[in-house]
Amino acid sequence: MTSASLFEVNDLENTNRLEVSADLGNLWELNGTIHEYAYLTHNFFRYYGKFPSALAKRVINEFIETNGPANIIDNYSGSGTTLVEAVIAGHNAIGVDINPLGVLAANVKTTFLPAQALEDACRKILLVAKDFLESGEAEIAIDHLPMEELEKWFSLQATLELCALRHAIYGFESGTIKDFYLLAFASIIRRVSRAYDGEVRPHINKGKAPRSPLEVFEKKSLDMCQRMKEFGVAVKGEATAACYLGDNRALIKSSEFASESFDLALTHPPYVNCFDYLPVYRLELLWLDGLFNQWSVQSRNLLGSDYLDYKQLRKLETRSWPANPQVIESYRIGNLQMLEGLWQLLRPGAMCCVVIGDSTIKGELLPVHRWFIEMGEMAGFRHKQTIYRTTHYGTGKYAYKNRADYHGKAEKRDAILVFNKPKSG
Ligand SMILES: C[S@@+](CC[C@H](N)C(=O)[O-])C[C@H]1O[C@@H](n2cnc3c(N)ncnc32)[C@H](O)[C@@H]1O
Repeated sequence: MTSASLFEVNDLENTNRLEVSADLGNLWELNGTIHEYAYLTHNFFRYYGKFPSALAKRVINEFIETNGPANIIDNYSGSGTTLVEAVIAGHNAIGVDINPLGVLAANVKTTFLPAQALEDACRKILLVAKDFLESGEAEIAIDHLPMEELEKWFSLQATLELCALRHAIYGFESGTIKDFYLLAFASIIRRVSRAYDGEVRPHINKGKAPRSPLEVFEKKSLDMCQRMKEFGVAVKGEATAACYLGDNRALIKSSEFASESFDLALTHPPYVNCFDYLPVYRLELLWLDGLFNQWSVQSRNLLGSDYLDYKQLRKLETRSWPANPQVIESYRIGNLQMLEGLWQLLRPGAMCCVVIGDSTIKGELLPVHRWFIEMGEMAGFRHKQTIYRTTHYGTGKYAYKNRADYHGKAEKRDAILVFNKPKSG
């Protein structure tokens, strides 16, 4: 039977009616604040929908069974939370994600760079940007920008300053230092726009005070330099990480990574009916169109094309919203394919942890974590245990109505599904 025929809509309706047992099993309390979890390089970029760093840390501590450095894969790596925790713990890690901003963030957050070189580069970028503004070149350059869309989100002054900063960073010689400042630039876009800082998809906040991109960039860059120093001290041994731009459904056909070469998988699919990721970064991607041609790791591209614009990437994203039967069916088929890819990449005996929560559509519960238990077993894994975790979405401004705060009582659960790849058979 092919994966495509596994999830007929009728099947889907039947699975929705699965009983949700009251057994809470193992519950992990992860109730630190966003600030507490954003230590070291974790706070470089505000990636909506990332999981707490403490979760990745605990999974790695509990489920790595080898002595010495292990190989970890996260094929929904987002902004690289797993990768950062892996290298801090002395393990090597690979990430794969379809969002170029997430891939940039994951690579920058896990590549140590010396403070002096970073600080020198920051000064140079600011000098070139200020010169570009004062000479009037920025005013000419903005004619080549999609002003119709930009005008809605940015004041003219902010547009000019962002244009000047981008000119200075794009002109910097290619390498990991340039990547660092591409990320610093991306991380200030929302803050200097007219959009709410804390909402997932950008919406205009009429009361927002204007901020100078040059000032915000300088402050952010200096903070990142300081955190990079601390990260360098925290990383154990020679651990490295690399994040790839790719579609995890295609990994099973890719020869980029050797079969059975990973000791642990930790993966965090999008939540059904919450949001698709690329539209959340519409403003950042407007400014960083063609980002992939700018950064130093162009070889980390599994998509088979040098240039993919927003619309093309959007078609490759595994959609989870709006959760109509077609979207849900292809979400489930896509996630079965992604699990089959992980099965191939993990060595026999290795653990595979899937972090996923339930959702609702018009108030009706979708037991998504149970779908994943079935899919993991279809892919060849054995389901060993389900750990539930507390969530406190309501405490952040970006609470999303189809998700729920979960403190171990409500039926809508957030789970860490622990599978293992059997040693034989
Ligand atoms: C819940 S987020 C993961 C966040 C991550 N754990 C972190 O801490 O940053 C889900 C991710 O799935 C990615 N994604 C969606 N479709 C994908 C696909 N087909 N292949 C790879 N990544 C995909 C999105 O870009 C998003 O980053």
